[in-house]
Amino acid sequence: MEPVRLFFALWPEAELQQAFFAAGNKLHQRCGGRRTRRENIHLTLAFLGAVEPARLPHVIAVADQIALPRFEMIFDRLGWWRQNQVAWAATSETPRAIVDLVKALQLGLAAQGFKFDERRFVPHITLLRKANCPPGVIDNPPIVWEAHAFVLVRSTLQEDGPHYAIERRWALQPECRMG
Ligand code: 2AM
Repeated sequence: MEPVRLFFALWPEAELQQAFFAAGNKLHQRCGGRRTRRENIHLTLAFLGAVEPARLPHVIAVADQIALPRFEMIFDRLGWWRQNQVAWAATSETPRAIVDLVKALQLGLAAQGFKFDERRFVPHITLLRKANCPPGVIDNPPIVWEAHAFVLVRSTLQEDGPHYAIERRWALQPECRMG
């Protein structure tokens, strides 16, 4: 069987995807490039690349071990990286909880012998590729995202771009309330 292309991600509900897509449209007016399709909008936590299908249970086992809390993110920045021509939405403050989640995935994957993208984790949502933005800040109302789950995604590259299918979903824990 062919290897499958996998990554862990946070996947926004349709309404949030629409809010990010609208921000992407704003960026697109200034920067050109190719917009991420609305239904493809996500935040990557760990990118595994090609994995033998027989190893899929090991990937799932890594996520099964994770019991971490839900968290909130406020996407209050739109920007652009010149070096890879990606325009994105990001948060000014990275919640501790997302860093913990990524670390837990990385440690678990490494323990199972998986290779993954080890560049420093910079949480962002890719909204445009091949973009070229003029200098200046692009204002956008903050987009608030309560992350309640993370997902494992299978990516297939097709002529019209990548297609993503959610393989599995894991809930993040509701906050403990004392008293
Ligand atoms: P990007 O949006 O910043 O390009 C699916 O390809 C997702 O995995 C994308 O969101 C992409 O991030 C991310 N990703 C991380 N490392 C990758 C790599 N080496 N190749 C392809 N995608 C990668």
